[in-house]
Amino acid sequence: MKHTLIAALSLMLASPVLAGGHAATGDAVAGEAVFGKQCVACHLVVNDDGEKLAGRNGKSGPNLYNIAGAGAGMVEDYRYGKSMCDRWC
Ligand code: HEC
Repeated sequence: MKHTLIAALSLMLASPVLAGGHAATGDAVAGEAVFGKQCVACHLVVNDDGEKLAGRNGKSGPNLYNIAGAGAGMVEDYRYGKSMCDRWC
């Protein structure tokens, strides 16, 4: 039930972007630079085939592959913190 609500909310939030005909907008080059400075210590980006697309060894945070538009707290196999789970998991 909670997940359905979250999914519906994320769809509503994503719809202006999707209506524009783009799955994602933004500056991938700039994003990669920011990721490399600010996120790499804790996050990896690993696709469904297990290929590492970005990151080094940071695993304290969840895998961020396909995270844009996903509901909060939905990464499988990641043990979210209690305050996160109380609200989203
Ligand atoms: C110091 C470590 C650390 C850094 C640096 C960090 N994160 Fe995280 N991030 C985490 C942890 C740990 C969680 C999970 C929190 C929880 O379970 O309560 C998280 C959660 C997230 C989530 C939510 C995932 C979900 O499934 O709901 C997103 C999105 C995210 N981080 C993006 C980023 C981005 C983008 C950056 C860089 C700008 C970043 N994080 C930097 C540790 C970090």
